[in-house]
Amino acid sequence: MNLQEAARDHLWLHFTRMSGYQSAEVPIIVSGDGCYLTDSNGKRYLDALAGLFSVNIGYGFGEEIGQAALEQMRELPFYTNWSYAHPRAIELAAEVASLAPGDLNRVFFVSGGSEAVESAWKLARQYYLARGGKQVASGETRHDERVGTPTPRKYKAIARQIAYHGTTMGALSINGIPALKETFEPLVPEVRHVKNTNRYHRPPEETEAAFTAMLLEDLEEAILAMGPETVCLVHMEPVQNAGGAFTPPEGYWRGVRELCDRYDILLSADEVITAFGRVGHWFGSERYDIRPDIVCCAKGLSSSYAVIGAVVVTDKVMEPFLEGASMYSHGITFGGHPVMSAIALKNIEIMKREQILERVLENEDSFRSTLAQLLDLPICGDLRGTGYFYALELVKNKETREGFSAEECETLVRGFLSPALFERGLICRADDRGDPVIQISPPLVAGQAEFDEIVGILGDVLAEAGKRMSAG
Ligand SMILES: Cc1ncc(COP(=O)(O)O)c(C=O)c1O
Repeated sequence: MNLQEAARDHLWLHFTRMSGYQSAEVPIIVSGDGCYLTDSNGKRYLDALAGLFSVNIGYGFGEEIGQAALEQMRELPFYTNWSYAHPRAIELAAEVASLAPGDLNRVFFVSGGSEAVESAWKLARQYYLARGGKQVASGETRHDERVGTPTPRKYKAIARQIAYHGTTMGALSINGIPALKETFEPLVPEVRHVKNTNRYHRPPEETEAAFTAMLLEDLEEAILAMGPETVCLVHMEPVQNAGGAFTPPEGYWRGVRELCDRYDILLSADEVITAFGRVGHWFGSERYDIRPDIVCCAKGLSSSYAVIGAVVVTDKVMEPFLEGASMYSHGITFGGHPVMSAIALKNIEIMKREQILERVLENEDSFRSTLAQLLDLPICGDLRGTGYFYALELVKNKETREGFSAEECETLVRGFLSPALFERGLICRADDRGDPVIQISPPLVAGQAEFDEIVGILGDVLAEAGKRMSAG
């Protein structure tokens, strides 16, 4: 088969301007090893994005994981979690529960990140119904006794501006990126977006404490404006990816947790990227002591060797679903798929054996200081992130922190950076969903040699970008 021709004629790439490939070659990646990929022309690339922030153990464990998949295929290729259990889903649920902080003890499997977010919001809506007539802090009941039917009083969600949470209708509605949503409106009611933890464009004299206070005030205002008795979910990432690796300021998560407690709202940590090592812990919630009621995870759970995600909840959230006829009215055919579960179990075994988390914690300072060399370039305004999860914000004027216009971003990101980096054999993402950033998130097996290569290529390409943008 002529792969180029068939790709052009039949394959529909996600989030891709397909017109660009009428005349240009479709990039076809054919193999991977460690932190590297090879395309159909034999060219090698350093994958500084770990697939999509997801191939945490790198590409080199195919044999071992394949063997686990094969054994599971032989034993039981598929069975469902609809009313039935099977050994691998049970073992994986127990393993994830043992790694998750606090009493996050119950695991509902799904097929990916969007489904996890979708399931978290549905679960939060149903949780308040399932908790039923019990009195809550506001003194109101959750059932409308007059008509005898449950009324979904608490159904709204709060997320943060510019945050990406997936593409299915519920997850898309939770997204804070207007451009992604407009095409598909009307969306699922009802979501508000509060300020994210991007500090770069705040007044330089603002203290960290004042920044945190401003963010929490904004969140509380949103809760009050929506009506606390109608809000079921606050959904946020430990470190926000879209916009460029926004880490939380001191006291932020403690404050978010307190507000959720005060207004009786479930706190959901979107750990689709941060779980399973990306920030040096099994869960970002542990690193930042978030104490969520719900955790969404996917990508790193199997290092993307399998199609699997999970919603992990605390004993408190599970409690009303353990009573009487109560049932979470939700399911997905492939949730907890035995082969996917076997792969995820093997991935976790490899992560433990290879001491992947320890490696991230050991290397994170040297990774940061290597990347920080790029701050010498006039176009590099800010370096943000933690663990193996970083972003560089690109600016027009470093003194004033002035960014690029939409038109300039188009020229910079799509017109120059993306093709230039790919041409130089480096896969990372030039992203302008918020201010333009380069996202750097390599496999967790990367070391100093890869850090140096990333910075070498990025340094050349960004220096050239700076010249072009100031010349233009
Ligand atoms: C934070 C976050 N949530 C949800 C998703 C959606 O995951 P998926 O693409 O597996 O549906 C993503 C994907 O990048 C993500 O980064």
